[in-house]
Amino acid sequence: MIELMANKAPVITIDGPSGTGKGTIAHMLAKALGWHLLDSGALYRLVAVGAERKNILYSNINELVSFTLGMDVCFSRLFEGSIELNNEEVSTLIRQETSGELASQVAAIPEIRKALAERQLAFRQAPGLVADGRDMGTVIFPDARQKFFLTASLDERGQRRYKQLINKGLGVNLRALLQDIQARDERDLQRAISPLVLAEDALLIDTTELSIDQVFEKVLAATQQALL
Ligand code: C5P
Repeated sequence: MIELMANKAPVITIDGPSGTGKGTIAHMLAKALGWHLLDSGALYRLVAVGAERKNILYSNINELVSFTLGMDVCFSRLFEGSIELNNEEVSTLIRQETSGELASQVAAIPEIRKALAERQLAFRQAPGLVADGRDMGTVIFPDARQKFFLTASLDERGQRRYKQLINKGLGVNLRALLQDIQARDERDLQRAISPLVLAEDALLIDTTELSIDQVFEKVLAATQQALL
């Protein structure tokens, strides 16, 4: 057992609520290190979008689990922002606000979290993995070499998301957006299984007043220290 652990590739985890920039930071860090990248939120989004397409009700746990286990997901061009589900490019679809909302409902179902756990663990390959999500450091990779937890004020997260959507040419109402983010936060924080919590050994970074480059500087410095 100890030998097996010693052979495991190192993992860096980045957890936190949405709008804190953790996806961007995870991407930058994986690129800088030349490591693999796991966007765990995308998996929950894929289940939500796939279930909707197949008209699977969330109350039909058996069918939902069987769909989840059978999903053919291609992350091979994740660094370019592309994700395929059953040979269909779905990256734009899964990034929509409604997909995030549905994903947080799917993510509260224990059987679905269990069904996705193996898939997430399989991303752990040499030379290393950067994983971002809500429970990467607490549940999936508790032995991560370095854990980060990013936060930002609700207002700042709302503003960031608002600008992103406007830049994509999508019309949004800031107040409705803030309400959606708050509802999703509450669901992620309150759920019975793997709620969003700060791991005891995670480095907390409040990104409210920081640029992406400033956050990345901190994350890279701590990672380099941890990998010495
Ligand atoms: O990170 P992202 O916004 O893509 O995640 C979408 C939803 O998936 C989150 O609101 C959360 O409910 C769920 N999620 C999760 N555990 C993870 C990653 C995401 O519960 N590790």
